[in-house]
Amino acid sequence: GIKKKEANVLFVGLDNSGKTTIINKLKPEDAQQHDVVPTVGFTVEKFKNKSLSFTAFDMSGQGRYRNLWEHYFKECHGIVFVIDSTDKLRFAVAKEELSMLLDHNEIKRKRIPILFFANKMDLRDSVSSVKLSSMLKLEDIENKPWHICSSNGLTGEGLSEGTEWLSREME
Ligand code: GTP
Ligand code: MG
Repeated sequence: GIKKKEANVLFVGLDNSGKTTIINKLKPEDAQQHDVVPTVGFTVEKFKNKSLSFTAFDMSGQGRYRNLWEHYFKECHGIVFVIDSTDKLRFAVAKEELSMLLDHNEIKRKRIPILFFANKMDLRDSVSSVKLSSMLKLEDIENKPWHICSSNGLTGEGLSEGTEWLSREME
């Protein structure tokens, strides 16, 4: 058959936003873990789903590990930035981390696609993807394709819309 595209995808975003939960849900069912724990440092997961052959770099979002993100900027083909859409107190922190990423030398010169997940859409106090995108000023992103989807990492809702977009952009 046709060989699926191989892609290094970097998952970043603050701690507790749902990165590991989302990656777990993207995996084939028989490879999914029952419980997800906070990531220490980072983990690398290789798996295939219907749109991509992934090497997912699952970074910890805890403050003390965020300096690890930049080590993977050079080799990634796509970025997934996950935001807890209920964590209003930390939207400013997420925005700051996004600015650091966009200003980094390895990212600045690349036309790399960035997918945003406005995660935890199932919770009552979640902010819509439209509102989140204006709060994070995504329209100011220069020379990079980006896309934002609401998602539920627990059920998988919204994930395939996002990864299909990412897969097209990485062609
Ligand atoms: P770090 O590894 O610490 O950076 O966190 P993370 O971004 O990997 O978050 P993780 O996947 O560990 O999820 C944090 C918590 O949020 C867990 O209790 C998840 O079950 C929960 N969670 C993740 N996605 C969703 C979602 O869409 N809805 C709800 N209600 N809870 C979610
Ligand atoms: Mg994690």
